[in-house]
Amino acid sequence: MLELKNVTFEVPDADSDGENPHRKTIVNDVSFTFETGGFYAITGPNGSGKTSLAKLIMGINPLTSGKIVLDGKDISDLPIHERSNSGIVYGFQHPARFKGTTFRDLLSIAAGTDDEDRLVRLIARVGVCSLDFLDKPVDSKLSGGEIKKIELATVIARNPKVAIYDEPDTGIDLWTIGPMVDLLKREQKENNTTTIVVSHNRAFLEAADTLLLIRKGRIAYDGGLEGAMPMLEDLSVCTFSDKCEGENDVRCYR
Ligand SMILES: Nc1ncnc2c1ncn2[C@@H]1O[C@H](COP(=O)(O)OP(=O)(O)O)[C@@H](O)[C@H]1O
Ligand SMILES: [Mg+2]
Repeated sequence: MLELKNVTFEVPDADSDGENPHRKTIVNDVSFTFETGGFYAITGPNGSGKTSLAKLIMGINPLTSGKIVLDGKDISDLPIHERSNSGIVYGFQHPARFKGTTFRDLLSIAAGTDDEDRLVRLIARVGVCSLDFLDKPVDSKLSGGEIKKIELATVIARNPKVAIYDEPDTGIDLWTIGPMVDLLKREQKENNTTTIVVSHNRAFLEAADTLLLIRKGRIAYDGGLEGAMPMLEDLSVCTFSDKCEGENDVRCYR
């Protein structure tokens, strides 16, 4: 069980000058319990704080206040590598590319083995051909979709207790999304992995047991997809801006 207790993340406001710059609240007093083995989708408008929240859980963003507790242990002050050792693994929205590094290197590090069979099986699980990919360099020549699939494989390779995927479908071809959802569901079921997927994709929203809708750094809704629909439709109007004066306001109506 992963508990967020009044989790808040603030940054200095770049628009304010002076010696005591104002603070901007990116994640605002979020409390939520992710049950062990549950499948959660986090959605919400761009800039609402989804990635920031995911990075707080992983320890990439420092907590301004609040607590994060994993299976009864307070991990709020643990650095990234110790959270990772506790079983939390994060798949980046924009994975890094490393000149001179191959998929084999990345996967071997993640899986803790260079056993050919294991690596081939891992890479096959994310739907890419190991013959073509294993010794391919992870550099700028890769497509966005290719690098996301490898990112996925490195998360799975670690047998995570809690897997956080930030927009795993970005850059992925449409026909791969279904198998990707199936793959994450299988990992969740077989390994009882608490799975948290940040996504706008309906396939992930439908696959989730619980949907969290983030708006302005807060959880605006949690529950089933049905119940979220009116709010999701409402997002097509950017009423999340304080300045929006409603449907007839051309500045914000989309
Ligand atoms: N370290 C940071 N410093 C300043 N602003 C940040 C920082 N991290 C995120 N933000 C801002 O917080 C808002 C939410 O960002 P993010 O969590 O990436 O949104 P989402 O993933 O929901 O699209 C954005 O306006 C972003 O620019
Ligand atoms: Mg994001």
